[in-house]
Amino acid sequence: MGMGSDMYRQQILDHYKNPRNYGEMEDPTFSHVGENPSCGDTIKMDVRLEDDGDTIEYVAFSGDGCAISQASASMLSQQLPGKTLSELKEMDRDDIVDMLGVDISPMRIKCAVLAEKVAQDGAKIYQGEIDLDKTKTED
Ligand code: FES
Repeated sequence: MGMGSDMYRQQILDHYKNPRNYGEMEDPTFSHVGENPSCGDTIKMDVRLEDDGDTIEYVAFSGDGCAISQASASMLSQQLPGKTLSELKEMDRDDIVDMLGVDISPMRIKCAVLAEKVAQDGAKIYQGEIDLDKTKTED
């Protein structure tokens, strides 16, 4: 475990203790909720788009989860503004693992990708690509 990993662990703990953009948005363009079925933790993502209907302007999240899921949601809320919905939907678990900067065990990958999956499914529902009440992270 090198210094680099320690730095990333500190960053994860910081986002967990001081989550960025935590709370419910009053005027989201779309909102979606998802659950990690292995623990039952739930996260809601609120997304507001710019007037072009495609560029993400602001993201807020709420709900409960472990340090990995909360830090991932917090970091994602900072990374998504400026991206388009297509760019959001193209993200994969490698992007999240890179963002977190630490090795994620197979047991914790659902925690890591929960916020991403919720935001992606929210975008797909908003764009009429899927019909879904609640996301559940899969392996
Ligand atoms: Fe529930 Fe990680 S243990 S989201």
